[in-house]
Order: sequence, then structure tokens, then C-alpha cells
Amino acid sequence: KQRERELMLEAHELTAKLYNYLLLNTEFGRAAKQYLASRGITDKLIEQFRIGFAPDRWDTLVTFLTRRECDMALMEKGGLVSAKNDGSGYVDRFRDRIMFPLWDRDGKVVAFAGRVLGEGQPKYLNSPETPLFNKSGSLYHFHAAKSNMRKSGQAVLCEGYMDVIQAWSAGVEEAVATMGTALTEQHAAILRRNASEVLICYDGDRAGQAAALKAMPILEKARLGTRVAVLPKGQDPDDFIRQNGPERFRQEIIGHPVSAVKFKLIYSRNSHTMVEEEGRMRYVKDAVRLIAELDSPIEREFYLKELSAEFGMSLETLKQDCHRMHMQMQ
Ligand code: CTP
Ligand code: MN
Ligand code: MN
Ligand code: MN
Ligand code: MN
Repeated sequence: KQRERELMLEAHELTAKLYNYLLLNTEFGRAAKQYLASRGITDKLIEQFRIGFAPDRWDTLVTFLTRRECDMALMEKGGLVSAKNDGSGYVDRFRDRIMFPLWDRDGKVVAFAGRVLGEGQPKYLNSPETPLFNKSGSLYHFHAAKSNMRKSGQAVLCEGYMDVIQAWSAGVEEAVATMGTALTEQHAAILRRNASEVLICYDGDRAGQAAALKAMPILEKARLGTRVAVLPKGQDPDDFIRQNGPERFRQEIIGHPVSAVKFKLIYSRNSHTMVEEEGRMRYVKDAVRLIAELDSPIEREFYLKELSAEFGMSLETLKQDCHRMHMQMQ
């Protein structure tokens, strides 16, 4: 088992080198290099993130690994190649894709994600779950972000690969990504060991905001301070940085997060129709419930005051309701 693990790790390292070489130094990589350049991925970023390219052929990696006397059954178990249906051998799993190595906590390559050039389905093809890799316990680029998290005490949590890469290039080097899956308790535990605060920086679309809302109780349960960096509608960190530059990303987005409760209030507000009396009322009730979850009486009063001003309701009424709910939650 230990020996199998070592062999699989070796194969992943070799594969990362091969794909990176093919991207940078061969004709195969030409279109991919152009695509990356069009997305603002510089040579320096290609190097830091060890980005590569898997050519549009069935046997590039199979041939390469066979020459290095790798056991193909083991390579299949590692998710690098696929067995042919008729049992007559193996084919490359990743073809015609830009390749992102995924690392374990020690910085060893344990899996890959491959992106199509431009449009196409699936947009990203990932390694399967293997003895080396489980997605629900992995955060993209954690091995490199870790020391920066420890320095700043804060982790920046993004959705995807490009977000982490562009955040890094913008000087936000404590960014990691859940790679499109829901945040798990395992993720939260890893973050807790290296930071005391998490800044959620998910996509500015409905899916991203819903995912942020779902991540909050998991982070809070792990006793992580949680805030949200809200992106403009329809933009993700990568989009924002490329449109507005690193400076504005650091200042306006990373530098101006909203508190967890504020985010929940905004989310709830957006879910109710404010033009109708009934919707407004449901929002006020929901808002009081959210505020009641706060432990600090000062914070509760602060947000209740905002609410009372906004809806022209007496602070006393809101306070009474809030206090009752707060007591019930104890
Ligand atoms: N993802 C995935 N498989 C897919 C789609 C998404 O694994 N078919 C994961 C990837 O880690 C991706 C993340 O979910 O980075 C976020 O998805 P999305 O926002 O749709 O993609 P982007 O990261 O914005 O990708 P890009 O900028 O390259 O379009
Ligand atoms: Mn998304
Ligand atoms: Mn995105
Ligand atoms: Mn994107
Ligand atoms: Mn209390």
C-alpha cells in the first residue's frame, strides 16, 4: 500500500512535468498558451501554478508512463488513465485540456483538473476520488497559501481555480478554493488549524451567494470568524481582477467585507419582494430572527436600529421580539 502510494505520487509528479513541458515548449501547447494569455495568465503564473496542457490524443500520457515502466492498472486507480471498454489497454483520461495540478497539504501533486479551451462540457474535468485525492477534504493551493494564512490570520475562500490564481497575482496569497463543491466540516477544520478568520469570496451570482450562505454555519461551528467579500453581480474574483485591476480588488473587495449577519440580512432582503407589504413584513421578521442569533447585545441593538430606521418601526417592538427569540435560542 505504501509502495503503491509512492508510485502514484511519482507518476503524478512526472505527469505534471510532462503537461507543463508540452504547454510551454511544443507546438501542441500553442492554442492553450494563447487561451491562457487571453485570460491574463502570465508565464510567471503558469510556473507558480504549474499549469500544463494535455494534447488532443488518446495516448500521450499512456505512452509516456509506459516508457517509464509504470503499472497501468495502478495509473488507472490513480485516475491518470482510463481502461478501454474492451479491456485491450488504456487511454489518456485528459485530452485537449489545460491542466491544473492539485496538491495535497505537503505540496505533492495528487490529482488534476483539466479545463476545455473556451466553451465545452464539462468545463472542468477532475481526477476521480482516488487513494491520493478526495475533493471534500481538499482546498486548491492550500499548501502554498498556508503560510500566508498563518501570517495574516485570515483565509480567503474562493470557488475556483482561476479565482485563486488571479487573487494570488493580485497579492492576495492566502486564497484557496473549494473547487465548486460545498464547503465541508473537513475543509473548515483544515482552515481552523491555520487561521482564525475566513473571508468568503464566492462568485457574485445566485449560486455563489447561496453557497456562501450554506458555508457560514459550517465555518461558525468550527469557531472561525466569518465575513463575506461581496462581488458585483455576475462577476467572480477572476472577472473582477481582470476588469478592474489588483489594486481595486484588494481595496474594494477584500478590504471591505461585510459581517456574517449583514450578509445574511442582505441575502434575505434579496429573497423577498420589497414592493409588497407582505414581503417587507416577512423580511422584517426574518431579519429579527437573524439578529436574535447574535450573542452580543450591542450588535443586536446596532442591527435592530438599522432595521427600525429602514422600516419606520419602533425600536421597542423589534427589541422585544428579538429578545424573546434570543432567549428561546439559548
Ligand atoms: N467546477 C468543476 N467542474 C465543473 C464546473 C466547475 O469542478 N464542470 C469547479 C471548478 O473548481 C471551478 C469551480 O467549480 O473552478 C467554480 O465553477 P465556475 O464558477 O463555474 O467556474 P470558474 O472557476 O469561474 O471557471 P472559469 O473562470 O474558467 O470559467
Ligand atoms: Mn461559480
Ligand atoms: Mn466562477
Ligand atoms: Mn471564472
Ligand atoms: Mn446570549
